[in-house]
Amino acid sequence: MKVAVLGAAGGIGQPLSLLLKNGLPSGSELALYDVNPVVPGVAADLSHIPTGVKVAGFGADQLEDALAGCSVVVIPAGVPRKPGMTRDDLFNTNAGIVRTLVAAGAKACPDACYAIITNPVNSTVPIAAETLKQAGVHDARKVFGVTTLDVIRSKTFVGEMKGVAPEELEVTVVGGHSGDTIIPLLSQLDVELSDEQIEQLTPRIQNAGTEVVEAKAGGGSATLSMAEAGARFTLKLVAALGGEESIQCAYTEVEGQPTPFLALPVRLGRNGVEEVMDPGAFSSYERKIFDDMLPGLQANIDKGLSFARES
Ligand code: LMR
Repeated sequence: MKVAVLGAAGGIGQPLSLLLKNGLPSGSELALYDVNPVVPGVAADLSHIPTGVKVAGFGADQLEDALAGCSVVVIPAGVPRKPGMTRDDLFNTNAGIVRTLVAAGAKACPDACYAIITNPVNSTVPIAAETLKQAGVHDARKVFGVTTLDVIRSKTFVGEMKGVAPEELEVTVVGGHSGDTIIPLLSQLDVELSDEQIEQLTPRIQNAGTEVVEAKAGGGSATLSMAEAGARFTLKLVAALGGEESIQCAYTEVEGQPTPFLALPVRLGRNGVEEVMDPGAFSSYERKIFDDMLPGLQANIDKGLSFARES
């Protein structure tokens, strides 16, 4: 199976590519694309690691070569936040980048799945979907916003608070991927959390990206944990395309939900999303913060769709 990383020389792209070089099944191909001229060096560097994954680098004018024959396209390309910015403040720069990359994918690998990391995810996923629709190759089962970082942060913070092994916790996170649109369903956990603890952990999870942006003090946003999250999701998607199904939370196009794109648990299989799952019970607190954020999420979606339709 061929996997492309678009933005492979960046802060997320490099560690993500390393994790994929080590984690993809033997015999896979990893195509690293970036406008940064260092990309052939990143590919050469990774190619010295002894795994059965073949790595190749593609420069600015080789986008369609990188994408040709891909089954999975992972997109971390774009600019990160600086302190004081919201993810939506990245829209003007990153929206066009995602549209250009996905439009090239529509031509070079019309059947591919897309795992989109580029912020604002709440808008870039609708942009990708609409771009594929305009090209006549859209399949709602194959376009994902990566929200795995919200899941792994939830596990970590709950694990720290309760003194339990984080990887043993199963946390469902629904909504979107920005501030108050991130809704971790902590009331569902087996480990006992008081209302007070849930109301303390929830904003911590919602603001965790901002916590990293502020700690990096102008040097960008989460790269290493995002690379880990992106790699975890991509490896599950690749496994599912090969027949090993799993349930993952992701931001996808949905029907019969309050917004047309929503993060929910989905069953991944040979065709991408095989089934959008019921997220389970919400506490009254979770229901309220979910309902309250819906107008903002819908506005993010509309902004992305209008951009893609007007371009
Ligand atoms: C994150 O959640 O860390 C990413 O979406 C990056 C950001 O800007 O917060």
